[in-house]
Amino acid sequence: MRNRRNWLKQTSLGIVGLGIIPLEGFAISTKEDLLEEKNVSLIRLRSNENPYGPSVLARNAMRDSIPASNRYNWDLSDELIKKIAQKHNLTEQHLLLGAGSSEILNLAALYCSKKTGNLIIAETTFDYWTVTAENAGLKKIAIPLTADKNHDLSAMFNAIDADTRLIYICNPNNPTGTICASEALLNFIIEATKTTKVLVDEAYLEYTDQPSLANLVTENKNLIIAKTFSKIYGLAGSRIGYAIAHPETIMEMSQLQFSPNGSVSVMSVSGALASLKDDKFVAETILLNTEARKYTIEQLENLKIRCIPSHTNFVYFSLENYNKDFFEQLKKNSILGTKIYEEKGKWSRITIGTMTEMKQFIKALV
Ligand SMILES: Cc1ncc(COP(=O)(O)O)c(C=O)c1O
Repeated sequence: MRNRRNWLKQTSLGIVGLGIIPLEGFAISTKEDLLEEKNVSLIRLRSNENPYGPSVLARNAMRDSIPASNRYNWDLSDELIKKIAQKHNLTEQHLLLGAGSSEILNLAALYCSKKTGNLIIAETTFDYWTVTAENAGLKKIAIPLTADKNHDLSAMFNAIDADTRLIYICNPNNPTGTICASEALLNFIIEATKTTKVLVDEAYLEYTDQPSLANLVTENKNLIIAKTFSKIYGLAGSRIGYAIAHPETIMEMSQLQFSPNGSVSVMSVSGALASLKDDKFVAETILLNTEARKYTIEQLENLKIRCIPSHTNFVYFSLENYNKDFFEQLKKNSILGTKIYEEKGKWSRITIGTMTEMKQFIKALV
């Protein structure tokens, strides 16, 4: 065990040394945490997973799909694409499956960097995938968030120049949990896509009342939407997500995949198909998340920890007025949090787990 742990440590250092930055969700420390978990049960509030998932329907479907896992099951993927298309009132040609929306973000980065130029992105947002865009030659232009930690759409719009190839909007935004006003976002997309591509990441949109922008892609070749089964559907470990875009855009993006729609497994597709049928699970997740989030924000505010109102399954807060060592408190109580995202104001994020987990989280901080 000890040897393996040392090996993992060395491997992590090696990876960091190579400049490969792991996603939070797949952070190297998590591997060690997994080993630790054999001794202590960890409270995982790091990666915005759904603590209730997968739904029972999805679990059963994945289990039942095991015998079919000896075959490449293109038919099943086609069925999922058809179901997703129906859900969004689009055709199958508007969709591309990926191993999580991470793959979709990566493909979008490669697709948009065919010509050199720049990429406009908020600071702070979900930006791990931009390493791909930068390696492919795009220069990153970071636009600060507004004072209330939302995307500054007008500043992002004003930053567009003749070399802008891509603008990324994470809506709602990770890590801040804020959401763009529908009309402002719509106007932004209409104007910005006249000259550049816009990638909207809707990973957490199902936690909100705001509709998807999916319907815009029928007319707009420059809009790409990334969606995932990792969050509201609780399938983070299954690795399945998808892109929604104009058929021509999907065609070009799919040419950057080894085999179009080919990176998902029979089990993940089966889980996703069943998840789409389980509206009850989605409704329950939203309800439980809302209750636990309300509790968490109230309790954090009682501890003088200022929170940004959240539209997601996580909360962004400032540790400026908290006088204990936040991360030490988490560690002592076997809770996995994240990091400081912004030094100024000491902003961090916590995932909303179950009510029991959030009570333990608050107890650890008091
Ligand atoms: C905003 C956002 N987009 C995309 C992802 C990637 O998710 P996945 O690859 O599991 O679909 C995450 C994961 O945390 C995220 O927060």
